[in-house]
Amino acid sequence: MSADAEPEPELVRVRVPAKINLALRVGPRSEDGYHPLVNVFQAVSLFDDVTAETAPAGEVGLQLVGEQPGVPADEDNLAVRAARLLAAEHGDPGLGVRLTLRKTIPVAGGMAGGSADAAGALLACSVLWDLDVQPDQLTALAARLGADVPFALLGGTAIGTGRGDVLAPVLSRGTFHWVLALSAQGLSTPRVFARFDELSTPAEEPLEVPDALMEALRTGRADALAGVVGNDLQAAALDLRPDLADVLERGRRLGALAALVSGSGPTCAFLCAEESAAIDVSTKLGREPAVHAVRRVHGPVEGARLIS
Ligand code: C5P
Repeated sequence: MSADAEPEPELVRVRVPAKINLALRVGPRSEDGYHPLVNVFQAVSLFDDVTAETAPAGEVGLQLVGEQPGVPADEDNLAVRAARLLAAEHGDPGLGVRLTLRKTIPVAGGMAGGSADAAGALLACSVLWDLDVQPDQLTALAARLGADVPFALLGGTAIGTGRGDVLAPVLSRGTFHWVLALSAQGLSTPRVFARFDELSTPAEEPLEVPDALMEALRTGRADALAGVVGNDLQAAALDLRPDLADVLERGRRLGALAALVSGSGPTCAFLCAEESAAIDVSTKLGREPAVHAVRRVHGPVEGARLIS
């Protein structure tokens, strides 16, 4: 705790973005069960809000706003685990908090929604409890909670290596316009990685991100970016969900510059030349029976931030 004389806040609200993987290169499974990754993340304008309120000592409560099938509302929720980890490592295990998650990031959608909630809980609780914790210490805790959690804190555009959790920001100019096609059913990330293991014999050579991708980001050119985005998990996701291949194809035909599965799926991401093209693609894609819902987003946006 800091010795600051300012009164502690009773309610802290944090907004956290979803991510798209512009490139996801996956190596062979390691002995610890994880896969070495090279991952280019972009944070996009689809957000979960995490609210932290004071609660009696030792109580870590969780409330979900709206219907959130498949999201655990107990100790298994990554946001609750984040709050408990932060209290144990940098505060006092007896600290209490009441967390509320207002979710718009699709659940089990390949957009790191659970990771976003954990990142939001770390930031919100560190402010609520007035902890003397540095950004790099929060990032270290984030990595212990999940491979995508550090990026949800950082935002923007970044390369992740290791399990995807060792981050370096990437220079990116301008704004990219995306349409997201959401599925009614989620996909389990471990299941997609397991299918990846069954389907592929990944090369042992070092994983790399094409220079052309870095150049496209530096210049902000969507047409150049479209030629170099790629996801090594896509074949596994399509094998488990063959219907997604039609969704990708439909988006391409409607004029998207590129179509790819986001992370482990099943959300499909369509890169568009400009905002007007994205409006057109989202309107038409939204009428497809195979598409549960569409969202129009842009990126990059900033990572977890306080909004009150
Ligand atoms: O780190 P996180 O808990 O988000 O990962 C979820 C699951 O995805 C892991 O349990 C593992 O099965 C798989 N995974 C992997 N290799 C990575 C990251 C995740 O196999 N680098």
